[in-house]
Amino acid sequence: MAALRIGVLTSSDTRAAGGAEDTSGAALKSLSAGHGWEVVAYHLLPDDRDAISAALIEMADVDHCDIVFTTGGTGLSPRDVLPETTLSICDREVPGIGEVIRGESLKITSRAMVSRATAGQRGSTLIINMPGSEKAVRESFGFVEGVLEHAVEMMAGGGHG
Ligand code: MTE
Repeated sequence: MAALRIGVLTSSDTRAAGGAEDTSGAALKSLSAGHGWEVVAYHLLPDDRDAISAALIEMADVDHCDIVFTTGGTGLSPRDVLPETTLSICDREVPGIGEVIRGESLKITSRAMVSRATAGQRGSTLIINMPGSEKAVRESFGFVEGVLEHAVEMMAGGGHG
């Protein structure tokens, strides 16, 4: 199959203001490249619902990303808005992805229970939330990477062979 088109969005007030390096976004880019997937869009944004919505819609509808990975904004602080913003612009939720990321992550850290990360489908784009730390991103990516090409085939209308 053709190389997946990948978008990456980091939600972080600190990093967007230049206060820290975006190591999680960089990790998502290099993990994707490791599969031969093409990273076609990257956004580093503050935890702002309108800006995040606009970027997610652009990556789905204009950039035609197959998969968009988001990092950050899944926790319980007042500025954490990724899951609800993702669902607000998606046609439907894909709950199993968040369930697996949380379930597997709980074997590593009990703090995984405070991540509200989910996933959703907008047209033929799958948007997957991940927590904000580089460690959490690397772990979460490892739990889902093996199923993503199949997910993209299904979104394109492919059946089960
Ligand atoms: N999941 C994994 N696999 N590894 C982690 O280190 N950290 C947790 C959790 N999920 C973590 C994880 C922590 S400490 C928090 S606060 C929540 O994700 C939410 O992170 P976020 O607000 O940066 O999205």
